[in-house]
Amino acid sequence: MSSPAASPVRVAVLISGTGSNMAALIDAAQAGASGYEIALVLSNIEGAGGLAVAAAKGVKTVAIPHKPFGKDREAHEQAVDAALRDAGVQVVALAGYMRILTPWLVRAWDGRMLNIHPSLLPLYPGLDTHARAIAAGDAEGGCTVHLVTEGVDEGPILGQARVPILADDTPSALSERVKTAEHTLYPQVLGDFCKGLARK
Ligand code: GRF
Repeated sequence: MSSPAASPVRVAVLISGTGSNMAALIDAAQAGASGYEIALVLSNIEGAGGLAVAAAKGVKTVAIPHKPFGKDREAHEQAVDAALRDAGVQVVALAGYMRILTPWLVRAWDGRMLNIHPSLLPLYPGLDTHARAIAAGDAEGGCTVHLVTEGVDEGPILGQARVPILADDTPSALSERVKTAEHTLYPQVLGDFCKGLARK
């Protein structure tokens, strides 16, 4: 006997900038059968370009600027968390969200928060990943989707895509090719993750 299709998992995407990964996640969800829907796009930057992109795609958006909270990171995160809960969010996808999270938010979403990082982790956590890969003479770069844990860029790896590093590559050229790979990898991994949750 076939069981009725599970309803899509409600995902929030957290961004700070242009949100090209976020757009890819929305497009995959709107194309259907992804296993998730984007319930909210949230940014810590009021004028983040990605907010307008998400709104144009018909997705609910909210900006919760961190600046008014000063040094109190947790107070900002409590406001973020409240917006996520209000929107009935089940899974959080970080996509260029340029804030280091406190253990409080990480624990609140333990096992339900994913991130995409532009390197083949565990290589090159942190910033300037493409320049570091080129300087090291690596033959390939790439991107990683992982679960978020308290250590920055350290959580269990859910998927990776590899991209060759070419002779005379520059960080910006490599970054562009890796971004193209990110836009395929993230929807795929998030979709598999959400379908797995729905089966639990
Ligand atoms: C991506 O390279 C992602 O891997 C990193 O931040 C960047 C976000 O880019 N975490 P975009 O805003 O999705 O275009």
